[in-house]
Amino acid sequence: MSEVLRAEHVTRVLPGEVPVTLVRDVSLTINRGEFVNIQGPSGSGKSSLLYLLGLLDVPSEGRIWLDGVDTSGFVEDQLAEVRLAKLGFVFQFHFLLGEFTVLDNVMLPMAKLGRLEPEAQRERAAGLLKELGLGEQLHKRPDQLSGGQRQRVAIARAMANEPLIILADEPTGNLDTASSRNVQQILSEVAHTRNKTIVAVTHDPEFARAGDRIIRIVDGRIESDG
Ligand SMILES: Nc1ncnc2c1ncn2[C@@H]1O[C@H](COP(=O)(O)OP(=O)(O)OP(=O)(O)O)[C@@H](O)[C@H]1O
Ligand SMILES: [Mg+2]
Repeated sequence: MSEVLRAEHVTRVLPGEVPVTLVRDVSLTINRGEFVNIQGPSGSGKSSLLYLLGLLDVPSEGRIWLDGVDTSGFVEDQLAEVRLAKLGFVFQFHFLLGEFTVLDNVMLPMAKLGRLEPEAQRERAAGLLKELGLGEQLHKRPDQLSGGQRQRVAIARAMANEPLIILADEPTGNLDTASSRNVQQILSEVAHTRNKTIVAVTHDPEFARAGDRIIRIVDGRIESDG
């Protein structure tokens, strides 16, 4: 199995008069194709850890390696470039742009990366959306879709640049049961048949059971991993 993500003794402290420790001495290795779930009580530091693993935040101590590269010392521009090319994000709230169509929302990361010609971007975006059952919705705006459909658009957007890893924070947190199962199945399929790595924070026990590994966080530390 090949390693795609590694945290080495990662600690994140918010400085201040009373410093707050969000993540304490976390070390973990994630391999290609793994579907990893992060669980733990509210306020235990799950989102904080996910942001560190997704290079949306930087450790106060320790290092994060992505695809064999040590990202410590990267400046924000370098982090943004790596995120765009190698990572995809899905959050509890979809963060789609309301003034753009579904198709345009999925094309945006490709346009930013600039590796494909506009026509190829359009084709790839339409293909992804069709695979996710949204072939009829390409030219609609996000507010014309259901919550589950919007979350599938967010997954298509996360996959736009063929990321190594998709990071998801409570991707089913805002959905009804049927839509939650659907989103969970799509993410399992993405991990298991397309060999993408998924790291998801979830409170949803059924979602966690669909994964390969559960990392339990308590008080900013790894309590168990397996
Ligand atoms: N910007 C901040 N300033 C102060 N405290 C913060 C900040 N961000 C997070 N925290 C605190 O750090 C701890 C960890 O937060 P985090 O959001 O990572 O938890 P979580 O496990 O994702 O919780 P939840 O399950 O509720 O989403 C919490 O106690 C939170 O209140
Ligand atoms: Mg959280």
